Amino acid sequence: MKDIEAKAKARAFRIGGVVIDPPLVLAPMAGVTNVAFRRLCKRAGGCGLVCAEMVSSYGLHYHNSRTGELLVMSDEERPVSVQLFGALPEVMADAARKVEEAGADIIDVNIGCPVPKVVKTGAAGALLKDLDLAEHIIRAVVGAVRVPVTVKTRAGWNAEHVTAVELAVRARDAGAAAIVVHGRTVSQGFSGRADWTVIRKVKETVTIPVIGNGDVRTPQDAARMFDETNCDGVMVGRGALGNPWIFRAIDSYLKTGELLPDPSCEDRTEAAWRHALLLASIMDEKQAVRELRGQLAWYIKGRSGASEMRGRLSKASTLDEIRSILYETSS
Ligand SMILES: Cc1cc2nc3c(=O)[nH]c(=O)nc-3n(C[C@H](O)[C@H](O)[C@H](O)COP(=O)(O)O)c2cc1C
Repeated sequence: MKDIEAKAKARAFRIGGVVIDPPLVLAPMAGVTNVAFRRLCKRAGGCGLVCAEMVSSYGLHYHNSRTGELLVMSDEERPVSVQLFGALPEVMADAARKVEEAGADIIDVNIGCPVPKVVKTGAAGALLKDLDLAEHIIRAVVGAVRVPVTVKTRAGWNAEHVTAVELAVRARDAGAAAIVVHGRTVSQGFSGRADWTVIRKVKETVTIPVIGNGDVRTPQDAARMFDETNCDGVMVGRGALGNPWIFRAIDSYLKTGELLPDPSCEDRTEAAWRHALLLASIMDEKQAVRELRGQLAWYIKGRSGASEMRGRLSKASTLDEIRSILYETSS
């Protein structure tokens, strides 16, 4: 019964003028949601919006070339959102203009990342301790670009300071077109469970679209999140690692109530190899192989001989080697 309710709620929605259909979003994940992985998720189907890994506003402002690499986008993945972090409103505004010029459909402001080296600069999660500055930054970014601006945040700084509702009101007042809420506090990191009641409270308070995030690993989880929070969209992060099909599976479940069969071992091998080729098409082979060592391990999880394969993948130094490790062991 609940899933039927979720089905009714899970409709396309808009962020500014951008239609998000289906209302399922690939979360920004540093070191993961590069153009290759985003395309893979898009091609698998069911994903209405993909988010690029976070980009430093300082890096863009000061022309750091590695930061520029993070702005590679392709038409097949649209709409695509690019996330910025920083603590200086003028630098964030300047970086936002550059991201808009690079072709982003949406710009997202990170007000939640708990990584210590980012937080100690006063950016991202640290802004949850200074909501005035957070609002100032959102206003500066909104004022700098024509594309819609969203905010991705957490429940609050810690259990004593759960401020998502206040931040959402400030974000709306500053012109944000939507808000993403991950139901954990910054001090929780990734421990414990995401508290979806915070997402519901934000949805009850603001009229801009609310995207719920945290601990959606299955189609049934997504249906439950729509149902329990009344959110407009569901964002999936870790559940998509090595599983670009998760959006198609959720979309299908919401539309038909049927669970799709799990991808076969051959499907997983094919996807891992496509992932490798896509990544190698956007960076040099050495760098691609370095990144792939960790990322391909997700596709072989649970497979017989997985730990031996992981060991061999971690030492691979060319694409050819990766190919033979993936295919030799899959037959
Ligand atoms: C490897 C990794 C990298 C991440 N990088 C970012 C990031 O760049 N920006 C951000 O806002 N959140 C980042 N996150 C958090 C996710 O976007 C998401 O909020 C979080 O994983 C909770 O969703 P999930 O339970 O579906 O994974 C990252 C998470 C992971 C696992």
